[in-house]
Amino acid sequence: MNIGEEFFEKTKYPNISESDQEKKLPHPPLETPQGGEAIDLPDPTGLSLQTVSLTEAINSRRSRRKFSTQPLSQEELSWLLWATQGVQKQGDIRTVRTVPSAGGRHPFDTYLAIANVTGLEPGLYRYLALSHQLVLIREDKDINELIAAICREQKWIAEAAVTFLWIAVPYRSAWRYSQRAWRYLFLDAGHVCQNLYLACEAVDAGCCAVNAFDDDALNQYLDLDGKSRFAIYLAPAGHK
Ligand SMILES: Cc1cc2nc3c(=O)[nH]c(=O)nc-3n(C[C@H](O)[C@H](O)[C@H](O)COP(=O)(O)O)c2cc1C
Repeated sequence: MNIGEEFFEKTKYPNISESDQEKKLPHPPLETPQGGEAIDLPDPTGLSLQTVSLTEAINSRRSRRKFSTQPLSQEELSWLLWATQGVQKQGDIRTVRTVPSAGGRHPFDTYLAIANVTGLEPGLYRYLALSHQLVLIREDKDINELIAAICREQKWIAEAAVTFLWIAVPYRSAWRYSQRAWRYLFLDAGHVCQNLYLACEAVDAGCCAVNAFDDDALNQYLDLDGKSRFAIYLAPAGHK
């Protein structure tokens, strides 16, 4: 069996073990705890930024790798974050968000490499979806060059206003789905990125999905152990 065949075989229902939910083990947090001072984002539901119809957004969606020097506003960033991971309902063990996720697990944390957003110092930030806030992890004026280098020298990334860095937290899904959760991580991540594509089009911005990156280098930069949390998908974005 090659690695792909083995993955599918081992994640078939007859081959997966009893989940921790079935074993009545405690539920993992809905969001990885984060220290630091939280910055409120503008209310995303009160925004009047959506300027195109859904048909137009779907029809004009492209992977965009050229960005203008016009900064994204915090309002626009708030809209993009809400569209990708915004929480609409919070229960005890699940959230309902603007994107689908198997079992409402939403097994991601969102980090942001911010380079050109009005009023925010360049650096690494974390999005707190439950409270719709940002936390500055550390300032870094060279963050774009660093992300571009980690992404196998894709130089165009250095022009992005912000790069969305989606971090998989597999246990949030595996608690419920055991080994089957590993299939859902990748499916769920696709929905998140597609919403970013469409939401960008609504504010005259664009993005491009990126999966060509050095896993170990990126996880190290983000202080992730690469097992319980790891970078799964990226998307640089900015005005067209
Ligand atoms: C899973 C995935 C990974 C991708 N990784 C990269 C990447 O590392 N670099 C890049 O420039 N484009 C990347 N892309 C963008 C594709 O090249 C792009 O979607 C494709 O060429 C089709 O163009 P379109 O999105 O404009 O229709 C990726 C797309 C997907 C879905």
